[in-house]
Amino acid sequence: MDKSELVMNLAMKRGFFFPTAEIYNAKAGFWTYGHLGTLMKRKFENLWRAYFLSLNNNYFEIEGNSILPEKVFRGSGHLKNFNDPMTECKKCHFRFRADQLIEDELNQNSSGLSEKEIDDVIKSNKLKCPKCKGELSQVRLFNMMFDVKIGATNTEDIAYLSPETAQNAFLSFKREYFALREKLPMGLAVIGKAYRNEISPRQGFFRLREFTQAELQIFFDPGKINEFDDWDEIKEHKIRLITAKHKKLEEIKSIDLNKKQKLPKFYVYHMAKIQEFYLDILNVPRERFRFRELSENERAFYNKIHFDIEVYFDTLNGFKEIAGLHYRTDHDLKGHQETSKEKMEIVNENKRLMPHVLELSFGVDRNIWMLLDVFFVQEKERTLLRFNKRIAPIEIAVFPLVNKDRLPEKANEVYRLLRKNFTVSYDASGSIGRMYRRVDEIGVPAMITIDYETLEDNTVTIRNRDDMKQIRVNINELNDILERFFNGEKLQKLGNIIK
Ligand code: GAP
Repeated sequence: MDKSELVMNLAMKRGFFFPTAEIYNAKAGFWTYGHLGTLMKRKFENLWRAYFLSLNNNYFEIEGNSILPEKVFRGSGHLKNFNDPMTECKKCHFRFRADQLIEDELNQNSSGLSEKEIDDVIKSNKLKCPKCKGELSQVRLFNMMFDVKIGATNTEDIAYLSPETAQNAFLSFKREYFALREKLPMGLAVIGKAYRNEISPRQGFFRLREFTQAELQIFFDPGKINEFDDWDEIKEHKIRLITAKHKKLEEIKSIDLNKKQKLPKFYVYHMAKIQEFYLDILNVPRERFRFRELSENERAFYNKIHFDIEVYFDTLNGFKEIAGLHYRTDHDLKGHQETSKEKMEIVNENKRLMPHVLELSFGVDRNIWMLLDVFFVQEKERTLLRFNKRIAPIEIAVFPLVNKDRLPEKANEVYRLLRKNFTVSYDASGSIGRMYRRVDEIGVPAMITIDYETLEDNTVTIRNRDDMKQIRVNINELNDILERFFNGEKLQKLGNIIK
């Protein structure tokens, strides 16, 4: 079995996620989070919140809507530009994303080509339908938004499921600017659902039709794009990136990215912080992380500077996009001003201006898949998810050594004691070895065993997932010691290793 099958099997068997409505053979691109996946997704979202909203005391979270009126997408440009190239088999009528077809059939990257150029590649290479060898239609553009109708009239009020959470921040900008401190930069974050009618989503959990984004739109004075209060903190940080010009991996200091590559300080500061989030908070190995700049042809229609954040996926055999850092300029506010006729300009520090926007955009689901991919480890006798303790869906597992002799009752007591401070599971259903394997497999960092000694002296063992070492501690100290373990102290510093 290859790694992608192993990880997918584990995810589905243990309740991280599984296809929605699978009993009805439902359409690709829709997934349900099981109990473990839901816990882990919340953890990721909370870490993201805590980290990115604390970058500045004027960054906040809001919550908007998934259904937004058509005019919003006229203003944002999605109605006109949010398209993928599509071709249809004239025989079996299967629809393909034309650029992906070229990639699959010719192993040729076609991102950034126009639909006419993609059509030419298909024709000149005489590509046929991979399913039935039928002739392929002329490539045309397909708008990826799902449309819905509001109310019963059926004639007006067309709306769309939002393909990005970002629009809620643009629509709320003026209200929040005045409700808050009339200060720039001002960040508005949204964590919520996004919907895209992907033409033929494959790759299992990677390309979804309904997914969660965590996005932060930062409104700033474009005259101050080369300023950032905390610049000195990151100016020596080395950023791993591939620029569109050099097309090779480099590690460049923030200060040089600003001075030599002319990337604005406002942009580079947030690059450094995103890299820190992945390397220091989630512990993604440095060599698996990079920024990749998109060329002018590849960039999203609203971006002036666009780097994707990519991590190497073993399960997908390559670096894949999990987030993006986008300089959207005043594209959206200007678009909404023109469409709605509402002024979007503000007065800031006695200056009338249309703010520009820097967007941090993360796909939550892709990040969850990435974490499973990166931290999945197979050892001789066990499989484990060696997650950072902060992202593990369950933090502590409590077991009685045997399911008799008052040990389960004592174990339950410990379970109740710990669950006020941690996410804890309780299991008494098998041999201790088997129970350890089951919790290693879902990445539980600490396991507590209640044995006969516990009944005599009120002590229990704590086992560390990563090296399987154990210490013995008194139950009265358990919460405190676990707190320190979860805050990064080594287990051997918290007690004597007994095994
Ligand atoms: N607001 C900007 C925006 O939506 P994007 O590059 O289209 O930019 C941002 O999407 C992130 O959302 C991506 O980096 C990816 O992680 C996630 N994403 C986009 N399309 C997705 C899909 N079909 N399935 C899962 N995640 C997706």
